[in-house]
Amino acid sequence: MTSEQVREPAIQVRGLEKSYQKLHVLRGVDLDVARGSIFALLGSNGAGKTTVVRILSTLLKPDAGTASVHGFPVITQPAKVRASISLTGQFSAVDEILTGRENLILVARLRHLREPGRVADELLARFSLTEAAGRRVSTYSGGMRRRLDIAMSLVGNPPVIFLDEPTTGLDPQGRIEVWQAVRELARQGTTVLLTTQYLDEAEQLADRIAILHGGRIIAEGTLAELKQLLPPATVEYVEKQPTLEDVFLAIVGTEGAEGAEGAEGAEGAEGAEGADQNTASPDRVTN
Ligand SMILES: Nc1ncnc2c1ncn2[C@@H]1O[C@H](COP(=O)(O)OP(=O)(O)OP(=O)(O)O)[C@@H](O)[C@H]1O
Ligand SMILES: [Mg+2]
Repeated sequence: MTSEQVREPAIQVRGLEKSYQKLHVLRGVDLDVARGSIFALLGSNGAGKTTVVRILSTLLKPDAGTASVHGFPVITQPAKVRASISLTGQFSAVDEILTGRENLILVARLRHLREPGRVADELLARFSLTEAAGRRVSTYSGGMRRRLDIAMSLVGNPPVIFLDEPTTGLDPQGRIEVWQAVRELARQGTTVLLTTQYLDEAEQLADRIAILHGGRIIAEGTLAELKQLLPPATVEYVEKQPTLEDVFLAIVGTEGAEGAEGAEGAEGAEGAEGADQNTASPDRVTN
């Protein structure tokens, strides 16, 4: 990597435009994502989040504007961009018939890595999937599947990863598991651009957040900066009730899915074992 590449943002987007026939989806998107940071692109259904990710990962050509990833322009050096990224799409790409370990080995072979078995085992351990490594993915819970999906995207240690709605459809425990995995990625220096419709996900994970609306980024900043866009907070007395999510997690437990992964076969074991372990989790119920 040249010193120029080290200095510049991991992802830089200027004036990006894209239409599908008459539908003008992106109307001039500008973005800068710093190296090693987690950046959340927020937007409603149809805002164009997947379109941005597809352009940045060279799957789609923009109509106008520029974008570079890891120092390489997506239009003129797509092969270099592809070698620097991985994409975990909105819909899981794991092979149900194979085991978790076999899925990882397959990707490691496709990437021509030496010692694919060792690469697979390291990633399985990192994503708490060692116990489930030899089971077919069809027996995995949604959270485990998504973690495997993310693990697969890390084979070969790409410096930039795109996660398109990594937690859509997951239950609260599954989301927390994926969040932990994403935080771990950034801690190790990977740049993460994720899209989400969940405001709390952006709040929990992202160093910076951008809101895509009407084809443009209408707000961008840290959570604190975005909060300053609203009038100053007023002090009010409110009786704080636990949210339904607090109650759910206190009863079911946040460790439930992890604890049950070793259980042979049955998916149903997850909830049951979690409940036993974590019924009393006082830190989750606040009032
Ligand atoms: N290949 C395509 N052909 C025509 N229209 C498309 C195509 N891909 C996307 N669109 C339209 O472009 C708009 C933006 O789609 P996109 O998938 O980028 O949105 P999104 O923000 O990812 O939405 P979601 O939150 O539902 O995933 C939508 O109105 C969608 O229907
Ligand atoms: Mg999408």
